[in-house]
Amino acid sequence: MHSTSHITPDIIMTGVDDRRLLCFEGSYSVPDGMSYNSYVLLDEKTVLFDTADKSCCGRFIENIKYALGKRKLDYIIVSHIEPDHSASLSAVREIYPEAEIVCSAKAKDFLEQFYGCGINARIIAENDTLCTGKHTLRFFSAQMVHWPEVMVTYDETDKVLFSADAFGSFGALNGGTFADETDFEGGYLSEARRYYCNIVGKYGLQVQGLLKKAGDLDISYICPLHGYVWRKNLWLILDKYKLWSTYEPEDKDVLIVYASVYGGTENAAEITSRLLREKGVKTKMLDVSVKTNDIVIAEAFRCSHIVFASPTYNMGIFTRMEEVLNDIAAHGLRNRTCAFIQNGTWAPVASKLMQEILSRCKNMTFIENVITVKSALSDPKYEEELKAFADEIYASL
Ligand code: FEO
Repeated sequence: MHSTSHITPDIIMTGVDDRRLLCFEGSYSVPDGMSYNSYVLLDEKTVLFDTADKSCCGRFIENIKYALGKRKLDYIIVSHIEPDHSASLSAVREIYPEAEIVCSAKAKDFLEQFYGCGINARIIAENDTLCTGKHTLRFFSAQMVHWPEVMVTYDETDKVLFSADAFGSFGALNGGTFADETDFEGGYLSEARRYYCNIVGKYGLQVQGLLKKAGDLDISYICPLHGYVWRKNLWLILDKYKLWSTYEPEDKDVLIVYASVYGGTENAAEITSRLLREKGVKTKMLDVSVKTNDIVIAEAFRCSHIVFASPTYNMGIFTRMEEVLNDIAAHGLRNRTCAFIQNGTWAPVASKLMQEILSRCKNMTFIENVITVKSALSDPKYEEELKAFADEIYASL
């Protein structure tokens, strides 16, 4: 049985949800599931835009069979070959062997790497077009958003941008289709942000390149490969992408990222948060022992200031904190002000080591005042030290 919806009279959403998935791409928590979007265009020729992850192949095939009815499939456009979008390709080709694959040259190479030799494809390049009857499809490279082979497609007739991974989100659609049917500010934004920062956050320059191309198009719909379709207030997501891709923070908030073995470091982190809140600053605290990296990375992209608090552990940084810091550096965060709290019962070194990792990021400012906790806040001197620490953070806001 199918579950499809119309985007325009000629374009049908044929994607599927996976609500059993706990960890997308083996890395990212998806407590609300994941959608693998795919679209069918019905014109004189028929077109399938991408497929779906193999976990959902059966339901996906039901959807495209319904969308196509008794018609044959003429083209399969492979925007992005990452297997969450291409793993059902062979199942589609078994049913529609005459369908011609349309993709970039690099996508063809990657398809052969993943699925074996002998894939025939029509190779497309920047600004090439494909006429399907009433519709003209124009192709643009979106290199590194998120892989090097990515192409996006603009349907000049219905003014639809098929945007591949760009403008997507974590989370299943649960029978929904359009972003304007969700509470964007109250919920969907945070998942779209978490998706952006973790999937393409490293590639801000390339995202800006895609935004420039999109700016030259008259777009009525954005159809991403994950998340809801945009048909109203497109500026909501486009403006966020403009901001995120420049690595400028969204909010002048203080994120406090901490690890704590026996509570001393957590105590210092929490008192810092309270002192800042008493000054009217918005803070958020994340314990890296229970929060996944993707959550920390998204909040680090959102906030202007970050306090990192870690025990010294085996003469290094607490393991989970070290993982988080390396992941933040790998995602290319920049333009943030950071402050540090370290703990060590006999030889505290975590602050210096945390700063070394973050020195790999561009344009980071480190607050000079470092809090060093010797085991716990049992000495009254910490009260004044933490007040001065919070004052210095506040002054930098
Ligand atoms: Fe949704 Fe880069 O794959």
